[in-house]
Amino acid sequence: MIDKFINMKKLTILAALLTTNFAHAQETPEKYRPQFHFSPKANWMNDPNGMVFHNGTYHLFYQYYPDAKVWGPMHWGHATSKDMLHWKEQTIALYPDSLGYIFSGSAVVDVNNTSGFGKDGKAPLVAIFTHHNPVIEKQKTGLHEYQSIAYSLDDGKSWTKYSGNPVLPNPGITDFRDPKVCWYEPQKKWVMTLATKDRITFYSSPDLKKWSKESEFGANAGAHGGVWECPDLFPLMHEGKQVWVLIVNINPGGPNKGSAGQYFLGDFDGKTFTANSSKTKWLDWGTDNYAAVTFSNTGNRRLLMGWMSNWQYANQVPTDPWRSANTISRELALTAVDKELYLTSVPARELDAIEEGGYSKQNMAAKAPVNLAPKSGNPSGLFRLDFETASVADFELVLSNKAGNELLIGYDQASNQYYIDRSKSGKTDFEAGFAQKHFAPRLSKNGKIDFTLVADVASVEVFADGGLTVMTDIFFPETPLSELSIKSVKGIQVKDLQYSTLKPSME
Ligand code: FRU
Repeated sequence: MIDKFINMKKLTILAALLTTNFAHAQETPEKYRPQFHFSPKANWMNDPNGMVFHNGTYHLFYQYYPDAKVWGPMHWGHATSKDMLHWKEQTIALYPDSLGYIFSGSAVVDVNNTSGFGKDGKAPLVAIFTHHNPVIEKQKTGLHEYQSIAYSLDDGKSWTKYSGNPVLPNPGITDFRDPKVCWYEPQKKWVMTLATKDRITFYSSPDLKKWSKESEFGANAGAHGGVWECPDLFPLMHEGKQVWVLIVNINPGGPNKGSAGQYFLGDFDGKTFTANSSKTKWLDWGTDNYAAVTFSNTGNRRLLMGWMSNWQYANQVPTDPWRSANTISRELALTAVDKELYLTSVPARELDAIEEGGYSKQNMAAKAPVNLAPKSGNPSGLFRLDFETASVADFELVLSNKAGNELLIGYDQASNQYYIDRSKSGKTDFEAGFAQKHFAPRLSKNGKIDFTLVADVASVEVFADGGLTVMTDIFFPETPLSELSIKSVKGIQVKDLQYSTLKPSME
């Protein structure tokens, strides 16, 4: 009996030792820390919120749980940047209160002081967000989400919640959240685009306080594999004509499983959104760009940023002491393929400023693997690669390290698809579906491929054909993927290749 006890004890100690060693091996300080993508210093982050450009500064708020590395009672964290690359984490902007957790939403600069929150000629920043009430949620009445506002008169440093909250009570809809507000100049009113379960509901207001319902869109349009969340509505110009873009994030039901963003193009007259096509279109075909919405107040530029994770495994990714990062900022535009319009996203030009060194190559033939890493090496694994091909043919880029991890990114001509295969990219066993190959159709009809790849320590962002097909995937290699080669079964001619290493921009 005593022997048994001693043996049991020995076993327990051994197990504890093993766990400690394992934990130690896993927690090499900040091993997977993104170097030019925003991630919080510690603890949990999800959706970007309230992104707004104000007085020369980009503000990023985000769903944040400051007490643990998993999702919990939501706050709005806050970070600021001059270039969307060098981010400075600020103090928490909004804390949960008696009305509930602070869920996703947007922020606007109330230039005309329609809200009356402004003082001494200073325009207020107004945040419009969802209060999610966990107490009412338990009662299962479906009335636990409603919209509230808060304002700041010191450039987002401190916030005052409006005493008349909520400004938009719940009419009896279980999922009633993520308000994105914009100013609709032709009718001089605010328009709120709200995710309401399986559709979008538009509301309008003269002052951000009183809201009236305008219309609904989408119960029978687009993808419905999951609940509709985090929408966005904005105009873009195409060949001198204004086209309205409606982004709708959905979870699950993405094209490669889990969370993803779809979009609709059409008209908006201040009341109703009318789609001009019934085709389901995806903002990003990778698995790691969710809740992506655009910054407010950026003039003619439309800058999109998303949460670089997926609800399928966001709570399990092996990072420590934080969880999640955002995508780089992307500039949106429209392009037509056989008369069908699509959104394109390319890296915002600010990225150019962190390029350092590298090389370029013209007219290179690749069949057997050709090394593309710079001669001096690239130990950080941070780089940007741009190239064009002479024709449309298969190719595969192999990002790898000495530890034997590899990430494959390529184009398969037979199926006309781009892909990212992260099945052997390093640590993948924290969730059953993580180690997978993801596919995206090539939409372009051009006789050549142009390709941009942006790689950080734990993510790749692929922009093919001028950003017509985009893929974002995260991965967790044992050491940075410092090697890069290209190969092609059929053989491919690569023109105008440019490789640049990228400088870390995070402190
Ligand atoms: C999307 C989402 C939103 C919600 C927030 C809660 O990822 O589910 O709909 O407001 O996250 O953190």
